[in-house]
Amino acid sequence: MAITFDEQSRSIKLDAGTSSYVLQILPKGQVVHRYWGAAVSDFDLSALLESNSGESLGLDGENTLDENPDHMLAEYPGGGAGDFRVPAVTALAADGSSAVDLRYVSHEIQQGKPALAGLPAVYLNNDDEAETLAITLEDKYCGLRTVLYYTVFAGLNVITRHTVLSNVGVGARHDVPLQLNYAMSSCVEFSSSNYKMLGLYGAWARERQVEWLPLRHGTQSLQSRRGYSSHQMNPFTVLATPSADEVQGEVYGFNLVYSGSFLIEAEVDQKDTTRVVMGINPYDFAWKLEPGETFTTPEAVLVYSNAGMGEMSRTYHRLYTKNLCRGAWRDKRRPILINNWEATYFKFNADKLVNLAEQAASAGIEMLVMDDGWFGKRDGDNSGLGDWFVNEEKLGCSLAELVERVDDAGLKFGIWFEPEMVNPDSDLFRAHPDWALSIPSRPKTLGRHQLALDMSRKEVRDYLVERLTDILNSADISYVKWDCNRYLSEAFSATLPAERGREIWHRYMLGFYDVLERITSAFPKVLFESCASGGGRFDPAMLYYMPQTWTSDNTDAIDRLKIQYGTSFAYPIRTIGAHVSATPNHQTGRNAPFMTRGAVALQGTFGYELDLAKLDESEFDQIEDQIDLYQEYQKLIFGGDFYRLISPFEDSTQAAWMYVSPDKKSALVQVVMQHISGNHAPRRIRLQGLEPQSLYKIEELGVTLHGDSLMNLGFIIPESWGDHQSVCLTIKRKG
Ligand code: GLA
Repeated sequence: MAITFDEQSRSIKLDAGTSSYVLQILPKGQVVHRYWGAAVSDFDLSALLESNSGESLGLDGENTLDENPDHMLAEYPGGGAGDFRVPAVTALAADGSSAVDLRYVSHEIQQGKPALAGLPAVYLNNDDEAETLAITLEDKYCGLRTVLYYTVFAGLNVITRHTVLSNVGVGARHDVPLQLNYAMSSCVEFSSSNYKMLGLYGAWARERQVEWLPLRHGTQSLQSRRGYSSHQMNPFTVLATPSADEVQGEVYGFNLVYSGSFLIEAEVDQKDTTRVVMGINPYDFAWKLEPGETFTTPEAVLVYSNAGMGEMSRTYHRLYTKNLCRGAWRDKRRPILINNWEATYFKFNADKLVNLAEQAASAGIEMLVMDDGWFGKRDGDNSGLGDWFVNEEKLGCSLAELVERVDDAGLKFGIWFEPEMVNPDSDLFRAHPDWALSIPSRPKTLGRHQLALDMSRKEVRDYLVERLTDILNSADISYVKWDCNRYLSEAFSATLPAERGREIWHRYMLGFYDVLERITSAFPKVLFESCASGGGRFDPAMLYYMPQTWTSDNTDAIDRLKIQYGTSFAYPIRTIGAHVSATPNHQTGRNAPFMTRGAVALQGTFGYELDLAKLDESEFDQIEDQIDLYQEYQKLIFGGDFYRLISPFEDSTQAAWMYVSPDKKSALVQVVMQHISGNHAPRRIRLQGLEPQSLYKIEELGVTLHGDSLMNLGFIIPESWGDHQSVCLTIKRKG
């Protein structure tokens, strides 16, 4: 890891792991992008790139430049001054003009990594883990200063980026505001367009489906305008060479540490270069910068791999487990929980929960989570949100008494909240109708019979912190599931002045992060899991506050193969909330075998979500087998490296994956049949991640062979009989 400035060419090279990123400062101050990819030795790469050919835009006259802004590869391009592609920044001046052309002022290389004001971000455990470059650019005509931050990490092909924008005034004038309309986190340019681009698209109960499309001329975007990172598109993309796959090819990952509306836009231009910008969605966004004020963008996490998608994912996993997730639970084995949602929905009381806990205890389950319905007036989803007071009448006792009874049964206790939301039918809404986001002159659009609270308001945040604190202090609570079940519409705050009205989207997020920080730091021993109608907010920002996320309301093991496959592209297995649920499955009606449901739930945090009383004896007994498997392999799954072997998107008959321990001594392979047919051809699987020259024994097959044979030739997957069976193979190194 090193960041080096070459005086002669005025180039800066960031060496991150086995990759390099190079930029150059031109004589007239344009800061241009030169390269990102496998490590290079040279600083001055300009001779290898085209510049100034063709049109003469900006090369003479008043605004003389070194490179034509129309096709210059820029580090942080402004709009309105000759660069016609998607901008990283635009700013509206008080006189109604809008042009930004940023020029170099200075740069600084420092050990460590600065925090981002009010925003979640990758952090360091020690200062010597990373180095940071901060380049200051300025447009003196509109008074916009930007500081571009780039951090590189020891031994990882990672660069994190964010930008701090400020209004420094024009000349002697320090009284003119600016309005930001684009304030992206990063812009990365590629001198080619020969890439395919990944989108993790989806819907409720069908999150993070994998879709690759070739880049084409013009722009293509992945985005959310919903106020949340969303089920529909994850704030993540990859540009990859056309033939790249799991094990080979160049891939470039982009992930935004943000839970709000985002935009990732790729533009292929007239010269077949590609620009990728990523950040807060400029749609309906405006931010007023008074003189002296600053705006900090969310963080972008960029990963390079020249060994395909698998290597890229493992880089994200490594970074996120050690430098994004935080707190006491970061490295700790998670308890095996049972959640009562699919067991009871809203129909429960303390006796029913204690019953479930007692049965769960006898099966070896360690924690009971009481889901939605314990507070206010809440027997369905149309009332009560906002009234965070225990409904003792419904429960039949106080929360402390219930928790004690569950504790007597031998289980820890967890609880569900949906703090950001309010039902119009609630005491909170009746007392404070203006606390909900809505436009006074318009009817309110409800989602799941609810409105979102105005998280930009301090009194709203204080109310939530006070209510949650009170409840979490009232009993011995070990776990919180933090839910959020609608998108933002009529996003309008009663308290923001008109000229700051469009700041609400981002101010909501800043307020939300403030509440998360206050609650999670006040209860450091509590394990938090985030949720948004399942996986509607599975993003790195949530992982900063809560080390696991409920992946999807779809608990069907076969559908989960795809959902978890897509999720694993960026997010570590230990962050993926996964439970065994009942059959016929509540979302699909499918009947996957109990052991297969267990195998798929093992690819995550592992838990249960069903009515144990309704299981037949043989299923109940299999819980013991599943828990034994979990106990045996928990460390390997939690701390090992993850390899995707067969994609459920590319192979309709099966899916397969494996975990390898960091010391390469043990591995676990799991295969799940998606589809079975008679007299099918033998199905072969090739392993990954083993030591080529070491001998490994596949316990279940009684085969001992070198890693290279198992990885290069592979072996035939053992036959299975019946729908959706699974195979689990344990592999041990000899010596
Ligand atoms: C959301 C969650 C579910 C459950 C319900 C409760 O849909 O994703 O897991 O908690 O809310 O209302």
